[in-house]
Amino acid sequence: MTSLEWLRGRDVLGTAGLDRENLDALFASARRMRSIVKDRGGTDLLRGRVLANLFYEPSTRTSSCFVASMTRLGGSVIPISEVRYSSVSKGESLRDTVRTLEAYADVIVLRHPEEGAAKIAADAAKKPIINAGDGPGEHPTQALLDLFTIREELGRLDGLTVTLLGDLKHGRTVHSLAKLLALYGGRVRYVSPEAVRMPDPLVAELRGRGLAQSEHRSLDEVVADTDVLYVTRVQKERFASEDEYAKAQGSYRVDLATVARMKEKSCIMHPLPRVGEIDEAVDDDRRAAYFRQVENGMYVRMALLAAVLGSPA
Ligand code: NCD
Repeated sequence: MTSLEWLRGRDVLGTAGLDRENLDALFASARRMRSIVKDRGGTDLLRGRVLANLFYEPSTRTSSCFVASMTRLGGSVIPISEVRYSSVSKGESLRDTVRTLEAYADVIVLRHPEEGAAKIAADAAKKPIINAGDGPGEHPTQALLDLFTIREELGRLDGLTVTLLGDLKHGRTVHSLAKLLALYGGRVRYVSPEAVRMPDPLVAELRGRGLAQSEHRSLDEVVADTDVLYVTRVQKERFASEDEYAKAQGSYRVDLATVARMKEKSCIMHPLPRVGEIDEAVDDDRRAAYFRQVENGMYVRMALLAAVLGSPA
């Protein structure tokens, strides 16, 4: 079985089960998708296939990226992003909604505010579920596109020093990314406001996977030997009170002075949206990779959808 065949018919709930071989195969496929898109806009690999895009939380990039990816593969999409206009607002359970959608669709992409929701959906559905973010839990497709971006920006994944800056408690993208980084050795540094530190159980789990981790009070301590600076916003919607949010917000900001201290060969990433953590003046620096990261998301999700639906490129 090739590595891409391994994905056929599978749920993608988290990063578990992904290994270097699967990731290499997926990234090679993403590069082929990039060539296809650049050469002719798309392909008909998934013609006649339907994706249900079920979003219970706001999204710009992830939601439109799945629509663009499926469309460029020749398939089509049932978009459900305003659940208040759907039967969910009548009290329908996630399980029933998912069972209904799988009658129409071949794959369901789900974003939900509760950790574990993707697993509940997967237990209810026979068709594959792709987790597009379950509360503070995981966001595996973002981690895949993040890793792909690092590979494309720096030419390697092994032995890198990655600094994760921001809301490491609620940031599901960093949770998934750290798990994938554990496959490649290297070091991960955590810099966050006190209230939103990387959760201890996750740090322990990552230690068990052999990831070298350290926590730092300020970015100044680590910026000079960082290969990847991965910035996140404080996840306002996950705080119990405005007061708690206010304590964490606004305590860090990447600006041109920060970037001036970074290595020539390094990159700055952000899953977006940003709300002031990176000064817009940084955008013109060639190390600012966040908009290339957005574009890479489409190639990686095209590769993933094609593999899950059994027609890999
Ligand atoms: C992230 C998310 O939703 O977790 N956004 C995204 O998918 N690109 C990060 C965030 O919302 O801060």
